[in-house]
Amino acid sequence: MSLTIPVPERDGSPPSSLEAASPHSIIEPDSDPSDGMQSCDTSTKSVNQSIFDFVRENGRTYHRYQAGSYPFPNDQLENERMDLQYEILKVLFKGRSYFAPLEDPRRILDIGTGTGKWAIEMGNIFPQAEVTGTDLSPIQPEWVPNNVKFVIDDANEEDWMLDPMDFIHTRLLLGCFSDFREIIARSYQNLKPGAWMESQEIMPTVYCDDGTMGPDYAYAEWVQTQDQAAMNVGQPMRIANKLKRWYEQAGFVDVHEEVFKLPINSWPKDPQFKMLGRFNETNFLDGIQAWSLQLFTKGLNWTKDEIEVYLVHVRKSISDRSVHGYNKIYVVWGRKPFDHETEPPKTAS
Ligand SMILES: C[S@@+](CC[C@H](N)C(=O)[O-])C[C@H]1O[C@@H](n2cnc3c(N)ncnc32)[C@H](O)[C@@H]1O
Repeated sequence: MSLTIPVPERDGSPPSSLEAASPHSIIEPDSDPSDGMQSCDTSTKSVNQSIFDFVRENGRTYHRYQAGSYPFPNDQLENERMDLQYEILKVLFKGRSYFAPLEDPRRILDIGTGTGKWAIEMGNIFPQAEVTGTDLSPIQPEWVPNNVKFVIDDANEEDWMLDPMDFIHTRLLLGCFSDFREIIARSYQNLKPGAWMESQEIMPTVYCDDGTMGPDYAYAEWVQTQDQAAMNVGQPMRIANKLKRWYEQAGFVDVHEEVFKLPINSWPKDPQFKMLGRFNETNFLDGIQAWSLQLFTKGLNWTKDEIEVYLVHVRKSISDRSVHGYNKIYVVWGRKPFDHETEPPKTAS
């Protein structure tokens, strides 16, 4: 059984700020000092069916194919966290899996598919389409719809050796590539004229609208430390807010951007944002070691013990509901122009 987030029903009349969400709207904090939510059961599915001998390091496993290029683990803990993150985004996006105006796409590509949930979902939504998910790690389930397949492939390769696509999707690939513009350019090459690309990315920066986040907020400080480590290994994390510009520079037209706010924990008053924040807190607490270990040992020369000691107060700060912090999730989509849109105008002879 897959994991789903139960979204609380609204009891009264005011619309949820999740429904009314706009990047400029303010999320109202909850004045109740307790979390105010009953515990709710979740169930998860293990998708760790490795056929490769994964790299073992500091108690975690990492991809063997192109070993060392992706700094985050591929073990069961991380895969279950990715599945939780998938459900969080699904609720945040109000059930939408994509934003581009797709019309009967026949060939869909998901780069860095992870556990493949998005690809499987798209296979179900578009039964006529052939959906391909690529990744460095074979962490996808075996039983998938007939029209979905997974390929172990490195998106850094010059030639993706694919037939042209109707839709190319990327999600949460921050820190994976030295220059994400190359992935956008290669996607452009691999799309049919008139076809769409879409990227859904988190901006790791912690934002706060009401002054409750002081300069010593440990999670925000961790974000800066992680950013430094990622820059040192040459794979930047802060790509989300640049995507729209990069799409346009690559030649995409009709480029759109939507920005969503995702609370760090359950500090909001609105029940839907509170539930999202609550699951996001679990997501961050489950992920913080994964996002630090290899990156900080490689990028900052820290030892595992130094990292573990550092993470103690970072974890506490993630659960601190007096700080009303949130991340921005960027969704950007654009269309590869038709040939007649890029041809220079014919001059009259
Ligand atoms: C944070 S996960 C996101 C997974 C999925 N897109 C999602 O939203 O759950 C990033 C994924 O990208 C994959 N990845 C990293 N570098 C890659 C590369 N060069 N080529 C293909 N996949 C890559 C990783 O193995 C990992 O599964």
